[in-house]
Amino acid sequence: MAGAEPPQHLRCPGETRRARDAWKTWSMRFVAVLSLLVVVACGTNGDADATKVRRVTDGGADDGAKSRRPLADIWGMPALEDENPDPDIVEVRLRAGKARAVLDDKEIDVLAYNGTVPGPVLRARPGQRVIVHFENALDEPTTVHWHGLRIPDTMDGSPRIQDPVPPGGTFTYQFKVPEAASFWYHPHVSTHDQLERGLYGPIVIQDDLDPIYDLERFLVLDDVTLDAEGNIAPPKLDGLDGLTGRYGDLFLTNGKNAKTVKASAKKGQVERWRLVNTANARKMRLRIEGARWRLIATDGGLLEAPLEPKELTLAVGGRLDVEVSYDTAGSVALVHDDGKERTTMFAVDVEDGPDAPRTIPWPEVKPHVAERAPKQEFEMSFDFVQQGASAQWFINGESHWMEPILTVPQGTTMRMRLVNAKGGIAHPFHLHGQFFRVEHPDWPGLRDTVQVPENEPITIVAYFDNPGTWMAHCHILEHAELGFMAEIQVTSTGAPPPWTGPGGGHGH
Ligand code: C2O
Ligand code: CU
Repeated sequence: MAGAEPPQHLRCPGETRRARDAWKTWSMRFVAVLSLLVVVACGTNGDADATKVRRVTDGGADDGAKSRRPLADIWGMPALEDENPDPDIVEVRLRAGKARAVLDDKEIDVLAYNGTVPGPVLRARPGQRVIVHFENALDEPTTVHWHGLRIPDTMDGSPRIQDPVPPGGTFTYQFKVPEAASFWYHPHVSTHDQLERGLYGPIVIQDDLDPIYDLERFLVLDDVTLDAEGNIAPPKLDGLDGLTGRYGDLFLTNGKNAKTVKASAKKGQVERWRLVNTANARKMRLRIEGARWRLIATDGGLLEAPLEPKELTLAVGGRLDVEVSYDTAGSVALVHDDGKERTTMFAVDVEDGPDAPRTIPWPEVKPHVAERAPKQEFEMSFDFVQQGASAQWFINGESHWMEPILTVPQGTTMRMRLVNAKGGIAHPFHLHGQFFRVEHPDWPGLRDTVQVPENEPITIVAYFDNPGTWMAHCHILEHAELGFMAEIQVTSTGAPPPWTGPGGGHGH
């Protein structure tokens, strides 16, 4: 909301000074590493030099610092600035505090990371160590959770492990990045309230396998309820909100009224849109109109082959990345349409041009976790009781499990049956610290969140590769607050956890 208007021009890697420097370092390294060279034209018109981008596929290099290309700029979004010159370390400052933001030409009160909603994008590469000097300038305790990243549990922002950072306090989060994908960060204390009021930010982990696009966007999709003054209404846990979660009446994209978020582009351009749903409760049903598009990545990174679904289901907490090719001039829209309502979340005005979109050659993707057959089964069933004006939620009969509901050795592959037999409400089930695959054609790829529809059990195959104590909960934030929360213990076998080694997690 507080951010400047997004740049309306295209950016090729190599355009900024920083990117150029990184490019230089990279090219010098390239000479030393005999690798496969792929030349991809960046596809924008004009400036021929800036539009040539070379790509190296790792030819067996054992050093994560080799074969690097600049991190992509993310359209319209500030990035956390890396203050450490060491190429293996990304060191940033993050401050949660009260801020004022502009929503529909009106200043409102929000909570924000570094003063902006969404917070600045955290960009890094697999194998890099991320150091986040976090400061809590709120007047309540908080933590930061790095949703989806398979890092040590002590850095996961779980208030069960980390004492929440008190008002005025600081904490240094430190972790090694295991793998490339789109992630996000948010608090894990009074989450339904703190997140709702603006504390959320995107994470882009990029590696050299990621295709190069003319432009990358991160579209952070949300909904809020405004009070009479136009501020974000204080979330409640009673009434309908406790039952269904809070549904907002205003859709936001990147912190602005979604209807007003617009960009312009040129025919022929090919873009990557990373989508995340940061709403408290609302599942988004999305499609892109006016352009050719395909699904290229899920929570756990690039798909082995892009898919062409008719629409996307984006559960609360989940991420989906799409490739969008502007093959005609005109207007392109990202639309949320769940049958009851239809709203435009983002629009692009595509100007005519001579070029047809190029075809992005798909790299040979090795999923961050290879498929494995489950050897064990476990069932989690979801339930609730209505309590006075509110509700209480249960997993296998218990609210807020403080003891592990499940203890498994690291390396366990488990089929989990998620049963949602009561209540007529779908639940976005989220597992911390691990990936899973969903045994359902609508949910391809690796995931950390899946929508469990009412009266239709979903089975997932979970890969418990990351030792530690992990939360498993409904990402409808009111439900989590009202008991829909369990704990899973993964005991270490001494095998390397996903976060060891650059790009760790491969080849389990
Ligand atoms: Cu977005 Cu417990 O997570
Ligand atoms: Cu739920």
